[in-house]
Amino acid sequence: MRKGSKIPAFTLFVTIIAAFGGLLFGYHTAVISGALLFLENVFNLSIFEQQIIVSTVLLGALLGAIFGGSLADHFGRRAALFLTSFLFIIGTYLLTSAYSIFELIVGRFITGVGVGLTSLVVPLYIAEMSPSKNRGMLVSFNQFAITIGILSAFLINYGFARESDWRWMFGFAFIPAVLQLIGLFFITDTPSWFISHGKKAKAYDILERTRKIRKDEEVFDNKNISRKEAKFKHLFDESVRPAFLVGIGLSIFQQITGINTVIYYAPRIFQLAGFETARSAILATLTVGIVNVAVTILALWLIDRIGRRPLLIVGTLGMAASLAILGIFFAIPTGPGFIAVISVVAYVCFFAIGLGPIAWLIISEIFPLRVRGRAMGVAVFFNWFSNYIVSLTFLSLISALGISLTFWVYTLICFLALWFVVRKVPETRGKSLEQIQKFWQKR
Ligand code: BGC
Repeated sequence: MRKGSKIPAFTLFVTIIAAFGGLLFGYHTAVISGALLFLENVFNLSIFEQQIIVSTVLLGALLGAIFGGSLADHFGRRAALFLTSFLFIIGTYLLTSAYSIFELIVGRFITGVGVGLTSLVVPLYIAEMSPSKNRGMLVSFNQFAITIGILSAFLINYGFARESDWRWMFGFAFIPAVLQLIGLFFITDTPSWFISHGKKAKAYDILERTRKIRKDEEVFDNKNISRKEAKFKHLFDESVRPAFLVGIGLSIFQQITGINTVIYYAPRIFQLAGFETARSAILATLTVGIVNVAVTILALWLIDRIGRRPLLIVGTLGMAASLAILGIFFAIPTGPGFIAVISVVAYVCFFAIGLGPIAWLIISEIFPLRVRGRAMGVAVFFNWFSNYIVSLTFLSLISALGISLTFWVYTLICFLALWFVVRKVPETRGKSLEQIQKFWQKR
């Protein structure tokens, strides 16, 4: 934290409560890789059924993103957070108590809707609660929670693997879901949402608690926005269009640069690289999880200091270099497997410093208040859609192109992402959400 930028305790508290959503996002997307090994035997699953169980979370997330934005704009960010907690609790209950494939699929779908909704509402909520100069760090705290969720899933999978207890693998998610539900009773909605619904006094009250200021011109600018004005027809108007390009572009690039080929398939990659026992492959995967958390902490520290653009540029360049090396390693598979581990770990480091936190951060910053929830919903939809396509095609790509060429395809995409960042993404460090809004209007 920089001098003079002490964050009020209430702001920290609401950020932590909201970020439990990130933890659940990470956990539910990563836990399945471990649980699946046992589900396969218990339920006698075909490959097709396994794919359905894995991918329904992503389909649910698409649905959560589609309706989540309108929900957050109309009923409030806090109401949307309550809904995610309920979805997580019901979904987890169905998963832990499932006795049929159908129950498993429904449970995965419901948690998926929760994941999609949470991925949209949490950054939105935190961005609107944060003082401008700390917004990068506070919103990215959610990414930190996502990485903790992923790491916990890896650890729990590892821990319960011996007892084959897949029910506990899913069941662990009850703890953060219930904690979040309790916490939500103690938080409020955001000043921006109150202002956009004509509740000025309430907005100023929250501003004072979250930023220690009374009349904040940031939110004051939006005082005349009525519900009528926020109708859907404004969603794609001219001043919002360039913001859409940036938001959708970053969301797609965050996924098609291949992060989840590593997060979802790491043990498989390491087995291909010569780590023959499942145990050594899982240990290498744990390393990925730990590094992902550690570098995200570094990103939190840097994001408001050196800005979003430098980190994105270094991040995408580094990802491209690591993948290129990984491709070379697989092309001449004589060396020891640890070069593969080093390149994969380096790739994850560069994701964690750039596209990981910053794609989510920027989509929470660039849209004008009157369409913010819904516009974010569109960007988030593209994020999950691209995730779905990458997860679905990775193994087929490997068998069609071979593993080296597959990683070189991703290298090329990282270069495209770099070009996009350099040309299109504006620096938002230190600017208020309303200054960013005006920046688009001037354009
Ligand atoms: C991405 C996820 C990814 C995770 C890895 C998030 O920002 O949206 O798809 O699994 O980072 O840390």
